[in-house]
Amino acid sequence: MIICVPKETMPGEHRVALVPESCKKLIQAGYDVAIEAGAGDAAYFSDEAYRAAGATIESDAAGMLGKAEFVARVNAPSAGGSAGRNEIEPMRQGAFLLGSLMPLRHLSVMKALAVHNITSFSTDAIPRTTRAQPMDTLSSQANLTGYRGVLLAAVELPKYFPMLMTAAGMVPAAKVFVVGAAVAGLQAIATARRLGANVSATDVRPEVKEQIESVGAKYVGIELKSSATAGGGYATELSEEDKARQRELLAEQCAAVDIVITTALIGGVFAPRLITKEMVARMKPGSIIVDLAADGGGNCELSRPGETVVEYGVKILAPLNVPSSMPTHASTLFSRNLTAFLLAFTKEKTFQLDLADDIQQGALITHAGQVVHARTKDAIAKAGGQ
Ligand code: NAI
Repeated sequence: MIICVPKETMPGEHRVALVPESCKKLIQAGYDVAIEAGAGDAAYFSDEAYRAAGATIESDAAGMLGKAEFVARVNAPSAGGSAGRNEIEPMRQGAFLLGSLMPLRHLSVMKALAVHNITSFSTDAIPRTTRAQPMDTLSSQANLTGYRGVLLAAVELPKYFPMLMTAAGMVPAAKVFVVGAAVAGLQAIATARRLGANVSATDVRPEVKEQIESVGAKYVGIELKSSATAGGGYATELSEEDKARQRELLAEQCAAVDIVITTALIGGVFAPRLITKEMVARMKPGSIIVDLAADGGGNCELSRPGETVVEYGVKILAPLNVPSSMPTHASTLFSRNLTAFLLAFTKEKTFQLDLADDIQQGALITHAGQVVHARTKDAIAKAGGQ
């Protein structure tokens, strides 16, 4: 079976879906691996390194896609038009596709994949179970996001992070407040603690309190009147009453700290607006907000996804696709996730479709000419079939 890896075409994307160490493993398992020339360049994996791992290098992307029975990529393919080259049309009908497709953010692409009869799996829809952990790209990439977000804040802060005793006297530790404490948030807390900051954090799922404390931050939160736990570790949107009470807590915390790092998502996809303009106006001038939920629209009302703005003397960073700014490790971990998925379902040197398996079932987005993923189907119906 031939697995192919196209060069990513999304603007600003530096990652590659498979790195040479994974190609070697897949080739040992009986696959042939073809890589588009230069696909790994931006992540510092050369064509030469892929060749040494046993992969073939293809300069004709469309020709490569036409032959491949299995396509591994980072992002959803482009359906052409203003988004660039059409990466679905040249694919062999009936092929498998695996990547972080973010189906709810790319409804028309999912429909085009179905029409082209592609069996697609999205790693961000894989159930968050122990067996699926090695395949979980959301976690491997969110970890990088949480870490990098703190470094961005540290560079922008006009102060030290740690408390320092110097000959010129003492400076206090920076205060960091983290909003949303799942994978990215917990890594942000741990990284800020390692740099010596005093850290507080909040979330809406009650079980997170213990996890926040275990990585060295103080938990702050409100008692919710209605549960915001959606199952599978995801949160739902708060009731209007709870939203109002949470706003008070957030306003108080934001005014007291030097840095706010936000990572909150609803259902793992969309960012609730939590930090209002009024809260920013009450922050100390020189403070920093790093909105790590910018890909989902942003947690701060004043964030401009992909830009840095200064409002009321507060610098607001809203970086997009943060893992791509650490492409070597982001690609390595992403590639190990995809390889774990592939190898878990490899028999007789071939990927086996198993619709009874809970991981495949969860991750399957399109199959046999249809969009089959329930949330994606619902979203398409709600959008009027568009
Ligand atoms: P996510 O990116 O979907 O959400 C980030 C956080 O934002 C969540 O903790 C959520 O509760 C919080 N949030 C939502 N609305 C909020 C609000 N109004 N105020 C404050 N916080 C708010 O989360 P991620 O990182 O994708 O993890 C989702 C779940 O999956 C977590 O429960 C995590 O522990 C679990 N998980 C399980 C794994 C496994 O067992 N294999 C692996 C990784 C994660």
